[in-house]
Parts: sequence; structure tokens; C-alpha cells
Amino acid sequence: MLNIAIAGAGALGKRWAEVVARNSTGEARLRAVVDPLIGTNLEPVWLQEQTSLSRVTTIEQLGDEDIDAVLVTASSPAHAAAVHQALLNGYHVLVEKPFTTNLTDAESLVNLAREKNRILMVNQNYRFFPGPLAVKKLATSGEFGSIRAVAGQFWCDWPGKPYQHAMLHPMSLEMAVHHFDLVRFMLGAEAVSGLVHEWNPRRSPYQMGGALEALFILDSNGTRFPFTYTGSLVTTAPAVPWAGFWRFEFDEASLFADGFEADYAFYLSSANGRVKIGEFGDPAMGFDQSFRHFLDCILNTTEPISSGSNNLNTLRMALNFFQSIDR
Ligand SMILES: NC(=O)c1ccc[n+]([C@@H]2O[C@H](COP(=O)([O-])OP(=O)(O)OC[C@H]3O[C@@H](n4cnc5c(N)ncnc54)[C@H](O)[C@@H]3O)[C@@H](O)[C@H]2O)c1
Repeated sequence: MLNIAIAGAGALGKRWAEVVARNSTGEARLRAVVDPLIGTNLEPVWLQEQTSLSRVTTIEQLGDEDIDAVLVTASSPAHAAAVHQALLNGYHVLVEKPFTTNLTDAESLVNLAREKNRILMVNQNYRFFPGPLAVKKLATSGEFGSIRAVAGQFWCDWPGKPYQHAMLHPMSLEMAVHHFDLVRFMLGAEAVSGLVHEWNPRRSPYQMGGALEALFILDSNGTRFPFTYTGSLVTTAPAVPWAGFWRFEFDEASLFADGFEADYAFYLSSANGRVKIGEFGDPAMGFDQSFRHFLDCILNTTEPISSGSNNLNTLRMALNFFQSIDR
């Protein structure tokens, strides 16, 4: 039986506690929660019902709890220190996206996990959505020829949390990181160059970086193609679903995740017309599958599909290509 702790008892901590409870089939159980707000008058309300859990304010204090793995669901700027301490304590780690807020931290955590021989996985839960899995299958089969161009779009008037208001690059690290990771996953591709223009819309509650426009050149087994992306957390337009709007141009067909006739779904357009393939996103957001994958990787000692090491190139897309920042 794997004993799990959750570090970060905010909205995602609560959500992960439900995920662990739903998926604890004799292999894992939630034992402890860590949050600096525990014991203060800001202690998250949902913890009041969790009477069987140990509650501590730092990961160091988990030492006496016989913990095997930690789900790091703290606010993003706290991820690096939390993952570092969890690995030092000898725990396997599943950390929420974004892995860290800078590459140096991410690289040293990947090395530490290797040294400690622990599983380090980043929760890129969109990889478990049905649409991306279908795109990956079609791209791998070559049924419609090669990929020639990809476009992604996301915008939503997201009020943001205090830590997000203060972050560098909130659109890139909090949201685009999901979509950048998806492109790598779906098309087996890596960015070889890129140009990201980051800006902050006038109504923005963020100190900087509430929106961006990007152009990457991706390489998939020697085939190069452009990926254009628009993202904004500040808009007066109707919101796009979390999974994003997409257009994939293959030689012989186009795949769309779009809202034609207000029916957001996954479509195939070819010389024979347009057909709906199915859903692109997942209303349950893929958390259960992500947790299951984490447990399997621990139990079988295998590398997660979104390991810390794999995630470095996602983080590079989110952090390394700023050529223009308009604050
Ligand atoms: N995968 C997804 O689809 C998805 C969706 C939303 C949010 N997230 C990610 O989940 C994380 C948490 O988001 P949230 O909405 O729950 O934020 P939140 O602000 O609601 O909660 C964050 C919690 O972390 C706690 N915290 C801060 N430092 C800590 C530390 N060192 N150790 C333990 N706890 C600490 C805070 O006190 C707070 O209770 C973020 O990284 C966010 O990007 C992922």
C-alpha cells in the first residue's frame, strides 16, 4: 500500500484528494496534507472534513508519516522547493504543471530524482484527453500524409489567483504550457526555433504577461513545420474550452478541434467533407488517468510519459523563446 501526501491544499489539493480517494483500489491511500496555511485562520475549509489525515505545514515534517509519494499541488512558484524537499525525503513525486518556473530548477530536480532513484512526473493531464490521443494515432499512422502546419488558440477571461497575478509569464507557464506539451506529445515533435511576443492587455489583473502570440518551428523525425499559437487570460470574447481550439494540416486532410455551430468537438475535413470524430477534451480533465499512470510507474519502476526529464522541452517552449516582451 502506497502512502500518499498532498502538498498544497488549495483548489487542486482538494481535487487531487478526490482523485486519490476515487482511485485507491488497495494500492494507495491518502495519509497526509501539507500546507503552510494549516492551523491559521486561512486554513482551507475542505480540510475540516478530512479528520483521518495528518496535517503539517512543511514537507520536512512528513518524516514521521511513512510516506511513499507526494503530489505537489502547491502554487506554482513553490513547486521547485517542494519537489526538492520531497525527493530529499526519498519520496516519489507527481508535481502539477508548470513543473517549475525556471529551467535551472527543473534541470537540477531531474538530476536529483535520478540520483535518488525516484519517479518524478509532471501532471500534464491534457495528454489523456481523447482528442490528443486520436491526433497522435493519426499522425503516427501516416494515413493522411505528413503534418504541414499546426495552429492552436486559447483565450479566457481568467481572474487569476494572487500568486498568478505576481508571476512572470502567467499565460505561458500557467496555461500555454498545457498546449505546448500537447503539441510535443501529439506530433512527436520538438521546437527547434521560436519567437514569442508576450504582452499584457490593458484590463489585465496580472502584473505582466497576460497574453502571448507565438510562432515555433517544430521538428518531427526530420519533417519541419510551423506551430502558431495565440493565448490570452484577458479577453472580452467568449472563452475557449480548456483543451483549446486547434487546426492540424496534414497533406491529405485537416483535423480541427473547434466550435462549429457551437458544438465544440473534434472534426476531420477531407475531400469528402467534414465529419465529427468525437470529443477533443475530457470533462473530467484526465486527472484519474494521470494518477493511475503515476501509480503504475511507481509499482513497475517505469518512466512516466510526462517525466520531469521529458517535461524539460515543454518548459523550454514556455520559457526560452521570448524575443519580445511588452509589459
Ligand atoms: N493540471 C491542471 O489542469 C491544473 C488546473 C489548475 C491548476 N493547476 C496547478 O495546480 C497548482 C495549484 O493551483 P491551485 O488553483 O490549487 O492554487 P491555490 O492558490 O488554490 O492553492 C495553492 C495552495 O498551495 C499552498 N502552498 C503554497 N506554498 C506551499 C508549500 N511550500 N507547500 C505546500 N503548500 C503550499 C497555498 O497555501 C495554497 O493553499 C498550480 O501549480 C496550478 O498551475 C493545474
